[in-house]
Amino acid sequence: MTLKVTASGEALGATIEGLNLARPLQPAELDSVLKALGKHGVVRFPRQELTGRELRDFSRQLGDLEINVASHAYQEPGVPEVMILSNIVENGKPIGLADAGQGWHTDMSYSRMIAFANVLYGIKIPRRNGETLGATQFSNMQAAYAELPADVKKTLEGKSVLHDFNKFWEMMRREKGSKRPALTEAQRKAKPPVSHPVFLRHPLTGKRVLYANPGYAMRINELPEKESDEMLEFLFEHQLKPAYVYTSRWEEGDVLVWEDIGTIHNAVADYGPDEHRFVKRCQVMANRYFREDEL
Ligand code: SIN
Repeated sequence: MTLKVTASGEALGATIEGLNLARPLQPAELDSVLKALGKHGVVRFPRQELTGRELRDFSRQLGDLEINVASHAYQEPGVPEVMILSNIVENGKPIGLADAGQGWHTDMSYSRMIAFANVLYGIKIPRRNGETLGATQFSNMQAAYAELPADVKKTLEGKSVLHDFNKFWEMMRREKGSKRPALTEAQRKAKPPVSHPVFLRHPLTGKRVLYANPGYAMRINELPEKESDEMLEFLFEHQLKPAYVYTSRWEEGDVLVWEDIGTIHNAVADYGPDEHRFVKRCQVMANRYFREDEL
């Protein structure tokens, strides 16, 4: 079967059929996947059957993988590049990070080297009344940039945004009832806030993107505090206009890949503790496309 890409027809999203991700991709197949990722931002590969190692090996073809040292308790045994996201508790112990990504954000925007893509493999997906729960939502930052008012583009040109890992962490504790403990001084030191340009050029499409997100963006460095607060409030509202948002509903066996430069995302927390979700994740870094000193 040849590879078939079907667009969702919405702001983002496509389904790719005809690839078995457990086998290495041919160079032309990898090229097609990257083209689809640039064009649609989010691509879904249905009906995959992957071990943790196979998920890691597929993800590695997209770039270098991050090993999340903060959450080593939730790494796949023997495959530290694979992290478990799950609300399942076995013998009183959570088997994965239960509330990852439940708020709009971009993975790793708080890091010196930013993320290129996320690869998630849905193994158990909650279902109620025949409908799947725990969808992942995305918003299109190429469209958000293109439709910024001209005066905002002019004000923000050449400016940078400060991103802080602790912002999302504290929001989860304060607003979402997360039981995660506050970060220790040592953990905060290990992840100090970093700045990145507010506009980046997308490495796959060459288009400009709005690179700011409600989860981690704290401050437009070059604006006075009040102006920065007002600008961020405007950007957070603008970037979530319904026209830019796409909801990807999971089926068991889906591998969902999205690029993190031109999209922001949110894990929808619409399922209860007894409605089990079990997803494996790899984080692909963007060092194939950017040098740290360009960010
Ligand atoms: C994430 O933010 O990486 C998790 C998304 C999800 O579990 O749907």
